Amino acid sequence: MALPSLLTYTQIPNLFRRGKVRDTYDLGDALLMVATDRVSAFDVVLPTGIPGRGIVLAELSAFWFRKTAHIAPNHFLGMAYDPYIVATYLKKGPLPDEIARRGMVIRKAKRIDVECVVRGYITGSAWAEYRGSGSVNGSSMPAGLQESQAFPQPLFTPTTKAERGHDIPLTLPQLRDLVGASLARTLEETGIALYTFAHAFARERGVIVADTKFEFGWIDGQFAVIDELLTPDSSRFWGAASYQPGKPQPSFDKQIIRDWLTESGWNKEPPAPVLPPEIVERTAARYREVFHQLTGKMLA
Ligand SMILES: Nc1ncnc2c1ncn2[C@@H]1O[C@H](COP(=O)(O)OP(=O)(O)O)[C@@H](O)[C@H]1O
Ligand SMILES: [Mg+2]
Repeated sequence: MALPSLLTYTQIPNLFRRGKVRDTYDLGDALLMVATDRVSAFDVVLPTGIPGRGIVLAELSAFWFRKTAHIAPNHFLGMAYDPYIVATYLKKGPLPDEIARRGMVIRKAKRIDVECVVRGYITGSAWAEYRGSGSVNGSSMPAGLQESQAFPQPLFTPTTKAERGHDIPLTLPQLRDLVGASLARTLEETGIALYTFAHAFARERGVIVADTKFEFGWIDGQFAVIDELLTPDSSRFWGAASYQPGKPQPSFDKQIIRDWLTESGWNKEPPAPVLPPEIVERTAARYREVFHQLTGKMLA
């Protein structure tokens, strides 16, 4: 079985958006979202890609879209290699294999400009706020929480979706002012329901989904989950076997890279150093492992 080759850049007609990791194209009736093998660490896209990483990101999103369709409708139509998708949406014929394996075809949506973050565990910016003020996203929390501990209930901590610069946290009253009380409640309820389902599913398979970010939109007037879903790029995954509250947890997917970059003495300003082959190989294997653990399937 051949390991996937490296795909860090795509160029096909009608670019819709090139993000840090994903290249999205306009197909007319739909969008093609290609997860490349680019990877970022400390907010910088690295000069070295991870072979097959994009396949894991795309297939994991597809997996979760199929698994959660009973909770909320979503934009997923199919993978770019599905014969039905090729026949219906790829009017110029099939895409090159390496793109098709990383490509999701999705319905076009009118995006709701809110990043719907749901947190099950106190870490990252939530831990920093709690240590300072005892609150998270403006709501007071029980005293005595330890770093990386589970919250009594998953917490909805939305932010603005800024085109440039950093997203700004929104309290629930601010969210209501922005989108209205009814939609604010739908965002929260749907986000919590999706997180709760995914957390339980992953936990049984040895993975902790510590937190995640959802995006929602409108498709022909119907509310839907859009963007990527429950991937290592939109979520924090921890290994359940090594989970130990009271300290920061290693990230399941990027820790090998982060550790190497830290030891390399890099000052975290672009450009980042080139990763050695051994680090690339171990990280690629880690992605395949996460995918297998969550889905029970091996990537071909
Ligand atoms: N179904 C959809 N219809 C329209 N826009 C979408 C849809 N799904 C996701 N998007 C948007 O497409 C963009 C993809 O960009 P992305 O690759 O995430 O780049 P970035 O690194 O800037 O986040 C995001 O702005 C996302 O909100
Ligand atoms: Mg994005």
